[in-house]
Amino acid sequence: MNSEVRRWIEKDGVEFFKEIGVKKSWTILDFGCREGHYTIPVAKRVGKNGKVYALDKDSGVLDKLKATVRQYNIKNIEFINEDTKIPLNDNTVDLILCYDVIHYEDKRHRRAIYMEVYRVLKEKGFFSVYPKHYKNDYPSDELADVELEDIIKEIVESGFSLEHKLSKGLLHDDNLNQGYILNFRRC
Ligand SMILES: C[S@@+](CC[C@H](N)C(=O)[O-])C[C@H]1O[C@@H](n2cnc3c(N)ncnc32)[C@H](O)[C@@H]1O
Repeated sequence: MNSEVRRWIEKDGVEFFKEIGVKKSWTILDFGCREGHYTIPVAKRVGKNGKVYALDKDSGVLDKLKATVRQYNIKNIEFINEDTKIPLNDNTVDLILCYDVIHYEDKRHRRAIYMEVYRVLKEKGFFSVYPKHYKNDYPSDELADVELEDIIKEIVESGFSLEHKLSKGLLHDDNLNQGYILNFRRC
């Protein structure tokens, strides 16, 4: 872990979640968590009365995250090894993070993710998306030709309203960069 990542997960990431409105004691799902660059700071932010589910289809990255969670002695994270399906009950989660994930998925699979997110979120719960690799931000994979406004539109069409579009300094892989955080509310 480089010093930028360490600083992010220990301090700056916790502040980031405070700034975007994450509250103590919330239940969070980090969809596509990989090694936990967002899982760990959000777990610190919600505190011991909150809970974070860390979901990824890749069991190898979850093993790495488990080691880091042990190292930091964090007790409020549960791990889920699933592809797209979210094995949680309906209306149970306050906030779902989907950061740097949707470029992996074609439109049909993105829609399947949004439907699962909708089902699991509490009424008026939040869906926070960090879209990366769309047309104007290092384009690649399934979002290479997709505009930010089209990403917003497809999520709105899945039953969400856009609350905030925030330009933030945040971690991408192992480096800080500038990106948009889209915060939606389940309608
Ligand atoms: C680029 S990483 C981003 C990790 C983390 N959210 C971050 O921003 O640091 C994307 C992760 O999403 C996972 N992923 C992609 N599509 C998924 C799906 N449909 N279901 C579960 N995990 C998925 C990948 O395995 C990968 O670990």
